[in-house]
Amino acid sequence: MGKLTTLAVINQKGGVGKTTTVINLAASLSILGQNNLVIDLDPQGNATTGLGKSNSDELKNIYNLLIKKININDTILKTEIQNLDLISSHVNLSGLEVETANDSNRAFVLKEILNAEKNGLLKKYDNIFIDCPPSLSLLTIMALVASDELLVPLQTEFFALEGITQLVKTIDRIKENLNPVLKIRGILLTMFDKRNKLSSEVDREARNYFKEKVYQTVIQRNVRLSEAPSHGLPCVIYDKNCIGSKSYLKLAKEFIKNSQIESAA
Ligand SMILES: Nc1ncnc2c1ncn2[C@@H]1O[C@H](COP(=O)(O)OP(=O)(O)O)[C@@H](O)[C@H]1O
Ligand SMILES: [Mg+2]
Repeated sequence: MGKLTTLAVINQKGGVGKTTTVINLAASLSILGQNNLVIDLDPQGNATTGLGKSNSDELKNIYNLLIKKININDTILKTEIQNLDLISSHVNLSGLEVETANDSNRAFVLKEILNAEKNGLLKKYDNIFIDCPPSLSLLTIMALVASDELLVPLQTEFFALEGITQLVKTIDRIKENLNPVLKIRGILLTMFDKRNKLSSEVDREARNYFKEKVYQTVIQRNVRLSEAPSHGLPCVIYDKNCIGSKSYLKLAKEFIKNSQIESAA
């Protein structure tokens, strides 16, 4: 039994590669022998469908888990991929913020659910990945409170670094008030296009600002990564030899190496 790490994949911008990273990093780690649970905390449910599951299961979904209609073990679904489980999303999730407006404890609900089942989860998983919606709303705050670490995808395009200051401020505020152990595990450059000068500029700027927090591995822009979800499969399973899959498999190796260095330190 190893250490269980809960990671939120977060960036309040949409379309930067959060869901693609959750699906393909988790699947790559599963291929490499680790056990992973994906929690789809985005009402759009793209991680759910991208892993071949329905985002309209009326019973087994994250919304029912958060309102305590169902317990966590009954919510977890097996996917087609060995070592990779899922808690699926549901569109009802988009109403949660309004429905819980009077509950002063609501930011802690996900954390408490995971903590209550900690021993069971520890036996089953190495990593829990939380796919966040593109906002800094209640759902994202819940994920920030429930997580040990954050993985921030950064699209290597114009304006990529805009908004990052706001994100860093939010993270600092959460650390001060709600979750002192929270830290950024890594910044991941996504949709890198080597023919585009801007990609290299964002790469340089991000490394200047975040230093060694930026993963050496960069995710290339690759159309296969955007095709795979319509087949309900991670790209690393759908076409393991394309450049996108190779980038995510490389990232998974770097991710494992980082945690080994970390635990030896
Ligand atoms: N490296 C990539 N190369 C090409 N397309 C990508 C890549 N990463 C993500 N995409 C596509 O870009 C879109 C947005 O990615 P997604 O992971 O859904 O972002 P987010 O979850 O941050 O909104 C999706 O259609 C996805 O398939
Ligand atoms: Mg997404």
